[in-house]
Amino acid sequence: MTLTPSPRISNLTLRPLRICPGTSKCHPPWCLRLFLLLVFSANAAFSGTIVKTLPGFDGELPFKLETGYVRVGTSEMFYYFIESEGNPKEDPLLLWYSGGPGCSALNGLIYEIGPLAFNITEYEGGIPSLMYYPYSWTKTASILFVDAPVGTGFSFPLTPEGFATSDTLAAKEIYQFLRKWLMEHPQYLKLQLFVGADSYSGISATLVVQHVLDGNLDTNLTQLNLKGYILGCPEIDGKITANAKIVFTHRIGLISDELYNSLVEEITLIQPQKNPACYENLQLINKCTKDLYKNNILEPKCTWASPESADEPARRLLEENAEGFILSPPRIPEFWCRNFNYALSYIWANDQNVRAALNIREFTIGRDASKSLNYGRDVKSVLDYHRNFTNKGLQALVYNGDHDLIIPNLATQGWIGKLNLTIVNDWRPWLVDGQIAGYTIKYSENGYRLTYATVKARRLKKRITEEVDTHRKSPSVGNVITCLRGLFTTILSRESLHFRNSGN
Ligand SMILES: *[C@@H]1O[C@H](CO)[C@@H](O)[C@H](O)[C@H]1NC(C)=O
Ligand SMILES: *[C@@H]1O[C@H](CO)[C@@H](O)[C@H](O)[C@H]1NC(C)=O
Ligand SMILES: *[C@@H]1O[C@H](CO)[C@@H](O)[C@H](O)[C@H]1NC(C)=O
Ligand SMILES: *[C@@H]1O[C@H](CO)[C@@H](O)[C@H](O)[C@H]1NC(C)=O
Repeated sequence: MTLTPSPRISNLTLRPLRICPGTSKCHPPWCLRLFLLLVFSANAAFSGTIVKTLPGFDGELPFKLETGYVRVGTSEMFYYFIESEGNPKEDPLLLWYSGGPGCSALNGLIYEIGPLAFNITEYEGGIPSLMYYPYSWTKTASILFVDAPVGTGFSFPLTPEGFATSDTLAAKEIYQFLRKWLMEHPQYLKLQLFVGADSYSGISATLVVQHVLDGNLDTNLTQLNLKGYILGCPEIDGKITANAKIVFTHRIGLISDELYNSLVEEITLIQPQKNPACYENLQLINKCTKDLYKNNILEPKCTWASPESADEPARRLLEENAEGFILSPPRIPEFWCRNFNYALSYIWANDQNVRAALNIREFTIGRDASKSLNYGRDVKSVLDYHRNFTNKGLQALVYNGDHDLIIPNLATQGWIGKLNLTIVNDWRPWLVDGQIAGYTIKYSENGYRLTYATVKARRLKKRITEEVDTHRKSPSVGNVITCLRGLFTTILSRESLHFRNSGN
């Protein structure tokens, strides 16, 4: 692997971004890696820039966006900071990054909790247009989105060795990033701080919380005003997740009672290889579920024919062959299919004007080096950290989709159960416009508070026009993200935007 820093190039041939390979990695609801042209500058001083306009967005952005890099060790970490649209002087600050590992923060910004979304109403190829998305968590919080770990999105290492990372290293980097960013933006130091991440990053985000707690014990360091953490369908304990998947596939009707019962008898999931019967049964489960779209088993697993193989009968998965993916009018995919909508983000982010607007540093690094993360999964469980957090007076919001086969709700409920918390508000539905949007339960212990919520899978609209209609008619119904945004406002104990608890 060679690293060849080259001077700024004016006429770049952009390599297409890849959507994360494999459903089990990217989740939820998907993500992308903005790898390709990694970028580098020898004398990178702090360089946050206010971004007033973005390609695809009509007029000036109606919120304050700052992008920039923070040097952490020998890496440059890229961030998007969006100031609260509410009361930025008092609203909390949320650090947010995506799962994978290797999913860009853009994923969280555009598809999950940020104030921008693609407007696909009349999309006919080319740079997709952006619209303001009003149900953003930035209504009540300032959000610092970071491309992490290094090697993800627009964050890059200055040395080839920097691509090697792990749960432990990622958490350290992210913590240092946060600290440094706050030192450079001291006006946000006094705000309540939340650490947030989803999916696989549940592991490292937990470690980041621990770093903040540890750092606050060091009297030589500026105190960070940590208030709590937010985890979306987080990986917390590999064994609990693995077991929960089996139970989930049975409960939701994907495997037979007989198969499930024989598995329960022989359940030694820790090392199924040592139990051939068990191993075989696990293979049967895999056979029954492998063609499901695991992020949301109600949705179709969309395939597409790549341009080169258009005549081949075998269609390949988008995520397996995102390179060379071309959206051109004859082949515009159907955007009701989640993957295709996600494809827009790398078309957008690979555009030179977009990158210029975001102040991305354009330098190249060896292609192979940038192709994938070299990530060591060195922490199998962070359950003990959460046990310890229950003595720290923190607030936690944990949510999970209820048709998610990557991190099933049963996994999340499983580890929360092991915290032995006291229920203060029992399992009950929560509503959006009078309809059940999921279920929630609230726990408390020694001043620690944990709100858990499921998000009910919605019916998939086949045609995007219907979707748009529904959305227009009642903008707060049915949109998972809207629901999550509502949830966020409750943990902040502010007036609930588009959110009500039925029980209360
Ligand atoms: C989305 O695009 C359509 C068609 O260009 C336009 O009519 C509509 O106003 C846009 N929506 C938003 C929210 O900007
Ligand atoms: C704080 O800094 C002082 C002076 O550099 C040092 O002697 C002391 O050990 C430091 N304390 C901690 C907790 O690191
Ligand atoms: C939890 O706290 C105990 C007691 O302070 C400590 O010994 C243990 O190492 C902590 N565990 C983790 C994972 O931090
Ligand atoms: C949790 O509670 C159960 C039942 O009250 C008890 O048996 C168990 O020891 C507790 N576990 C921990 C870790 O406190």
